[in-house]
Amino acid sequence: MPIIEVKNLRKEYRINDRKEGVRGALLNIVNPKYITKVAVEDINFSLEAGEMVGYIGANGAGKSTTIKMLTGILTPTSGQVQVNGIIPQKNRILNNKHIGAVFGQRSQLWWDLPVIESYNLIQKIYEVPVEAYKKNLELYTDLLELQDLLKTPVRQLSLGQKMRCEIAAAFIHDPTIVYLDEPTIGLDVMVKDKIRTFIKDLNKEKNTTVILTTHDLQDIEEVCNRVIIIDNGNIIYDGNLEQIKNQFGKHRTVQFKIKDSKPALAAVIKENEDMLEALSQDAYELHIKFDRQKITAAGVMNLISPYCEILDLSIHEPSIESIVKDLYRK
Ligand SMILES: Nc1ncnc2c1ncn2[C@@H]1O[C@H](COP(=O)(O)OP(=O)(O)OP(=O)(O)O)[C@@H](O)[C@H]1O
Ligand SMILES: [Mg+2]
Repeated sequence: MPIIEVKNLRKEYRINDRKEGVRGALLNIVNPKYITKVAVEDINFSLEAGEMVGYIGANGAGKSTTIKMLTGILTPTSGQVQVNGIIPQKNRILNNKHIGAVFGQRSQLWWDLPVIESYNLIQKIYEVPVEAYKKNLELYTDLLELQDLLKTPVRQLSLGQKMRCEIAAAFIHDPTIVYLDEPTIGLDVMVKDKIRTFIKDLNKEKNTTVILTTHDLQDIEEVCNRVIIIDNGNIIYDGNLEQIKNQFGKHRTVQFKIKDSKPALAAVIKENEDMLEALSQDAYELHIKFDRQKITAAGVMNLISPYCEILDLSIHEPSIESIVKDLYRK
């Protein structure tokens, strides 16, 4: 049975359409106008326990709105969400017992308290058995290197230190599902790495289900075995990363260092535009993008070699970034 099931999920926001200036402000009091903004149009997916899913999309695509509906913070306009067999916004207390959440922009720790005090409070709120709490605290302190941070008030922590503490907080009560909304935003590579490793470790050890939104596709490549891409409130891709690369990453690029190129070089590239295109070309370098289902790198070389001397070449696979960018564009 899926642990999360989402059917025809939709969220519309009602926005006050306020005109500018004093007149606008007055009119708005007398006769307020509203417009409807569809943030999530029609989302369907289900997750099995233990899956780690990357939920990605451009700014404003509807990711945070979806996560807020899954956590029960927001009520859907229509459609259904079931998490652990319950409807989150109708059973928020029960739902909260089983989930952890980190919103990169917001804190769940008490600003003025030392980190450990927040953890102690979370233990009390969630009624985590003392032994389990001690064990988790020890494990997380070790994995996220929190030793020197626990006694520090949250407001004195750097962004990266705070985020490590936030992540640990989300896992204290052994949630079965953890929602992470941009947990690595603004962090340096070392901290990102620590957080990714931590998430993977906990998933392995406790089979925690993870939904991760991020703009850093490295997060996805390293953590997730499945990726859901949304655009304008709809899913445009749901599958694994390998598949997306095969399905959409049909192109390779090859970069040639050349000399003595003949004027006909540009023409021969143009003649074969159904399988390749020049991304850039000058007297010393030629950068070609080709469809690997239609021609090989060797084929490209044979094609151009009569028209220039090839000194060196390097072939590149498309990055997941470029594939996703193409997908957004479509
Ligand atoms: N409280 C709100 N009231 C009105 N509109 C909102 C509200 N929250 C979000 N929106 C709008 O809904 C759309 C989806 O927003 P959402 O925050 O879900 O996007 P996102 O995918 O998380 O983007 P980002 O990558 O920037 O975090 C946006 O167009 C946004 O302007
Ligand atoms: Mg967001």
